[in-house]
Amino acid sequence: MSDAFDVIVIGAGPGGYVCAIRAAQLGLKVACVEKRETLGGTCLNVGCIPSKALLQSSELFDEAQHKFADHGVGVGAVKLDLARMLARKGEVVGANVKGVEFLFRKNKVTWLKGEGSIQAPGTVSVAGKDYSAKHIVIASGSESIPLPGVEVDEKQIVTSTGGLELTAVPKHLVVIGGGYIGLELGSVWRRLGAEVTVVEFLDRLVPSMDLEVGKAFERILAKQGIKTKLKTKVMGATKSKKGVTLTLEAAAGGAAEELTADVVLVAIGRRPYVAGLGLDKAGVALDERGRIKVDGHYATNVPGIYAIGDVITGPMLAHKAEEEGVALAEMLAGQKPHVNYGAIPGVVYTWPEVASVGETEEQLKARGAAYKVGKFPFTANGRARAMGDMDGFVKILADKATDKVLGAHIIGPDAGTLIAEMALAMEFGASAEDVARTCHAHPSLNEAVKEAALAVDGRALHI
Ligand code: FAD
Ligand code: NAI
Repeated sequence: MSDAFDVIVIGAGPGGYVCAIRAAQLGLKVACVEKRETLGGTCLNVGCIPSKALLQSSELFDEAQHKFADHGVGVGAVKLDLARMLARKGEVVGANVKGVEFLFRKNKVTWLKGEGSIQAPGTVSVAGKDYSAKHIVIASGSESIPLPGVEVDEKQIVTSTGGLELTAVPKHLVVIGGGYIGLELGSVWRRLGAEVTVVEFLDRLVPSMDLEVGKAFERILAKQGIKTKLKTKVMGATKSKKGVTLTLEAAAGGAAEELTADVVLVAIGRRPYVAGLGLDKAGVALDERGRIKVDGHYATNVPGIYAIGDVITGPMLAHKAEEEGVALAEMLAGQKPHVNYGAIPGVVYTWPEVASVGETEEQLKARGAAYKVGKFPFTANGRARAMGDMDGFVKILADKATDKVLGAHIIGPDAGTLIAEMALAMEFGASAEDVARTCHAHPSLNEAVKEAALAVDGRALHI
């Protein structure tokens, strides 16, 4: 194997592996360095994929217990085989990571196994050997933010990684942080029988979300038995054989209270991961939040070194990392691609799902935009009724003067799939009228999107 490459990508998560494949497709000689035993990064190994496998399994368990009977399906006593559920999750992950290995072979991307460290612009050392590259792409991802005083052991006090591996259903799971991870994994263990309490520092769950959707989400989660303690901070944790005792305090200060749990999940966000990359030696600059600083072309301050994905600014989402990976590979091959950061969807894969794209109503208000709102509830959608999943609504925000779609927010069945239509609409600069005039199949959940678009102009048909 020659040691000279056009591109060396460090990190084989969705940002890095996609960048490597796209660069290879464009005729560049590419290597990707990954220190994990398997490819796919956080997302495939300990993130998106295993969490969705458990969400799916736990949802089936919950449906069998609580929904089947309503449909006239009797199954007797429903039993949980957690070992099998976890094994299945492992199989799903295994198939996905093997898939990336296959794609590397197919596209002739060389996997350099080990930790990649930048010796100088143009040189990366892996397992004691130097490799040269015209371009170095850092795609080293992120890690959980630790909470001082609440020390993670991945058994009693876990991050998402341990939270995906619990070998018994905790009696009481306390989740610190009411964001994406807390609510997805909180839902999994709640459905499997745990009492779940979410402690959130701010006054609302998933604070980045449209407030109206966020409030509806809170009510629906409460109906599912997920308890929330908002405006509350965790001051410390004491472990014993029996469990963990957390000391809580109101965010505004005041008397402390105690909360005991068998397992505590710390999910207060993620931070860029740059350890071992040799950034000091190479002189790569970070911003005030420890992210690698890049320009609009993903170039760092050091010529020939680039960065994408969770390690740079922007939402820490796999599809955002992928878009950047593709765009950077194309730029390195001389093309002029573009990522539209205004149309990146976000989805919380609970049930119902919560999905959004574009601006929230609060953001529009804050920038003084004149806008119109169209809303449509799933209670008035025939398909949702047939499914027995009527919680939630679609909300579309459009410019008051031009009718251009500015944002869409959905809480409801399959919201994560429904949002794709609105992301596409925004990508094409569509108006609410364009969406409303598009013929939608009947009976489909997407009709709720069409009706919300009609409602922007006050002419929804089924409400
Ligand atoms: P990563 O996926 O973190 O990959 C970075 C890789 O680089 C790692 O494999 C690491 O081992 C490797 N690496 C780092 N440094 C070096 C080095 N020096 N040498 C060699 N290798 C190195 N996002 C979604 O969009 N949808 C979801 O449903 C979703 N669910 C999630 C669930 C959980 C529990 C978690 C934790 C995250 C989830 N995310 C989800 C976020 C998503 O996983 C990340 O946004 C995404 O993985 C970022 O991709 P990346 O390529 O930037 O980095
Ligand atoms: P998050 O940023 O989504 O949520 C963290 C929550 O913790 C916030 O609500 C924040 O206000 C709260 N918080 C912060 N400090 C706190 C403290 N000391 N005490 C109590 N609450 C505190 O982060 P999370 O859930 O850890 O996930 C990390 C990232 O991973 C997400 O932001 C997202 O980018 C990605 N992810 C995406 C998923 C998806 O797309 N479905 C699923 C899981 C993760």
